[in-house]
Amino acid sequence: MTVQELKKEFESLYGAGGEIRIFHSPGRVNLIGEHTDYNGGYVFPAALSMGSTIALRLRNDNIVRMKATDLDDIVEIDINALENYRDLSWGDYQAGVMNELSKAGYDICACDMLYDDTLPHGGGLSSSAAIEVVTALTFATLSNEKNGIEKPVDMIEMALIGQKTEHNYIGVNCGIMDQFASAMGKKDCAIFLKCDTLEYSHAKLSMEGYTLVISNTNKKRSLATSKYNERRAECEAGLEVLKGFFPNAQTLSDISSEEFNAHKSDIKDEVVRRRVKHVITENERVLASVEALKKGDMIKFGQLMNESGDSLRYDYEVTGDELDTLVSEARKIDGVIGARMTGAGFGGCAVSLVKNESVEKFIEQVGKAYEEKIGYPASFYVSQIADGGHEIK
Ligand code: GLA
Repeated sequence: MTVQELKKEFESLYGAGGEIRIFHSPGRVNLIGEHTDYNGGYVFPAALSMGSTIALRLRNDNIVRMKATDLDDIVEIDINALENYRDLSWGDYQAGVMNELSKAGYDICACDMLYDDTLPHGGGLSSSAAIEVVTALTFATLSNEKNGIEKPVDMIEMALIGQKTEHNYIGVNCGIMDQFASAMGKKDCAIFLKCDTLEYSHAKLSMEGYTLVISNTNKKRSLATSKYNERRAECEAGLEVLKGFFPNAQTLSDISSEEFNAHKSDIKDEVVRRRVKHVITENERVLASVEALKKGDMIKFGQLMNESGDSLRYDYEVTGDELDTLVSEARKIDGVIGARMTGAGFGGCAVSLVKNESVEKFIEQVGKAYEEKIGYPASFYVSQIADGGHEIK
């Protein structure tokens, strides 16, 4: 939907008149560095052109009304009772963000809102983070204006507000990658981020001759009910053991693979040992990827994507039939130099690095093989790499 169409739909829903403003935040695809963020490690995501867009207009009372373009009902939120909306089937993320902003000292302004979300829901491209970051940016902007504060909204703070919402309101113990990418993305760049210090830089992605193709398993899943929190606990158990040898290690990312290899047999639980191996080797793959891309060595980057994918499949065990099928079928196509799952896993999406001239064949052949094996179709996206959260003026 274009901005003009969104404004039109807003007016037919809430009535004409007044100033209607538009805010947008994107989803993300992670190129490499999976399940490293909550272990203090490196990630390398990029913001997409698909995301969450809000049209809004201020009101004079204590009510926020909100609706999504693809849902029927309007949700009403009392801005003085923000703790009370945890059980909403839609609107809980927004209420959670408003609650966190209010705890952080922002005034929540009453308004009417219409959300237009173009990311597949729960598809592993951070549809939730896009909603959190755009909601945080919107209400922080309104609060600053109300209080005569002229400095621009701190987008890293908005990412942290989104993450706190997941932890405190939604119940997912996620890392910072998704919200950070949605807040801090930059057109045609990936974000090289260290997740414990939040030090970051933008790396220009000049993929001369190649296209990033995202394939969606269309498998329904929910992060909260998945094994995500369990993986996090397994990493913490591994860290506890290794701290016996490296007392200064704050996170698994403070331990190198040599150090891990010297002490891996001290991790008696074989599953925990594999989880730790994934995290430590994945960090090193991110660093190697950034180096490879600096040199324009796409083949090397593709190999690292493959190694990451195998580590997620066999050591971290977050893939499953659907993702395994997408990735193995992708790798069969001539012109594919790397393929892996992206995001949390357990369904969701895969990302492949495909020669431009092979993209059409890729979508056709992987799509056909997937549907034959899994029984329902996959979806494919060739999204642009876009900017992070901002107001559209
Ligand atoms: C989800 C989480 C992120 C990150 C990824 C896995 O997307 O929200 O914080 O842990 O999974 O890399």
